Amino acid sequence: MRMYDIIMKKRNGGELSKEEIHFFIEGYTRGEIPDYQVSALMMAIYFQKMTEKETYELTMAMAHSGEMLDLSGIHGCKVDKHSTGGVGDKTSLALTPMVAACGIPVAKMSGRGLGHTGGTIDKLESFPGFSTSLTTKQFIENVNRIGIAIMGQTADLAPADKKLYALRDVTATVSCIPLIASSIMSKKLASGSDAILLDVTTGTGAFMKTVDQSIELAKLMVSIGTHHGRRVAAMITDMDTPLGHNIGNSLEVMESMDVLKGHGPADLTEVCLQLAANMLVLAGKGTPAECRAMAQAVIADGSAFAKCKEMFAAQGGDTRVLDDYSLFEQPAARYELLAEQDGYIVANDAEKIGSASVLLGAGRQKKGDPLDFAAGITLHKKRGDYVHKGESLATFYGAADKFEAAAAEYRSGLVYGAEKPEEAPLVYALVTKDGVERY
Ligand code: URA
Repeated sequence: MRMYDIIMKKRNGGELSKEEIHFFIEGYTRGEIPDYQVSALMMAIYFQKMTEKETYELTMAMAHSGEMLDLSGIHGCKVDKHSTGGVGDKTSLALTPMVAACGIPVAKMSGRGLGHTGGTIDKLESFPGFSTSLTTKQFIENVNRIGIAIMGQTADLAPADKKLYALRDVTATVSCIPLIASSIMSKKLASGSDAILLDVTTGTGAFMKTVDQSIELAKLMVSIGTHHGRRVAAMITDMDTPLGHNIGNSLEVMESMDVLKGHGPADLTEVCLQLAANMLVLAGKGTPAECRAMAQAVIADGSAFAKCKEMFAAQGGDTRVLDDYSLFEQPAARYELLAEQDGYIVANDAEKIGSASVLLGAGRQKKGDPLDFAAGITLHKKRGDYVHKGESLATFYGAADKFEAAAAEYRSGLVYGAEKPEEAPLVYALVTKDGVERY
């Protein structure tokens, strides 16, 4: 078998066989097939797509490219959660302690930022002392002892995805339904949880720009997971506007802690409550209404915040920071981005906001770039708000020489108008194995 023939077959719109998919995944993982051939295949898949059968095979080949974690040492139904990515998408940091505080074990494997979107592992690493590199043994012990652990993908968990993820990030082949579905589901199947809640984001800041595309992706992932005996559901959530006000690593940790303390932004809190409730439903804790009430109760009585502190302490973090945010690394400089005119903000492209934040140093422009954990943006005015000329739209944090480029990027996605735009829903639909419920 030759990689050249596989590329040509896909380029011409053919369906790859199980053997061909395993050949390229195994050869690429072993370092025998070069990046340039796999890049060409990714681009061919981007344009020609994959059938459901090919996507299933690709997922399984990637899941089996490394270790399949055995979490049977954790008592009870283990739940995981994964977002397809967004800007200011910090829900995992707040909702996982909520679910753990309700008595459901959370064994979460997270990733780093991809393109203009942030990643939970980068956010957690902005927290002084916190380690995301647990051994599988420590991971299982922590979940059994305190009910929650979050770690990065180990070197041996779906290594094919790890290589493909980094390659797709720099070859403009991320936003492709079969590639996203196989990337996410290979990791989720290999990481061993019984139940998985997927947050499929939609809008300018997401990889899927329309609700219909997001539903298609969600249905495919739910079907792959269900086929492999996992309980899976997906929520379609809005990502036309960043959630909350903060974008950037330590800035997002602070805002998610505010949710746990009961005074987070309303949009972020609402999405966290809905995601937490659906994780609890998947774990068999009760009806959607009962599960939502449980999630609200653990915020109100402080037990979710206490659970989060336990997790940070168990993973080496300095928990004083959670009560005193001034102990986070501080930004080198600040800059106020001012409105150039009066009017409503009718569009504020979330991808541009994410890219501006990457330019400030909160994300990577190329593989391996170091992050400035204190860099990022606080939004003072969002889509739908009225602004007066000269008012601050946002505060930028980071090195002063990065502000000009970041401001130009941010402004390129900003549109003012005389009419207040219609409010977008926070959640569009829930996709389960039984079908799609649109809200
Ligand atoms: N998240 C992933 O894990 N993989 C993708 O391809 C996109 C988002």
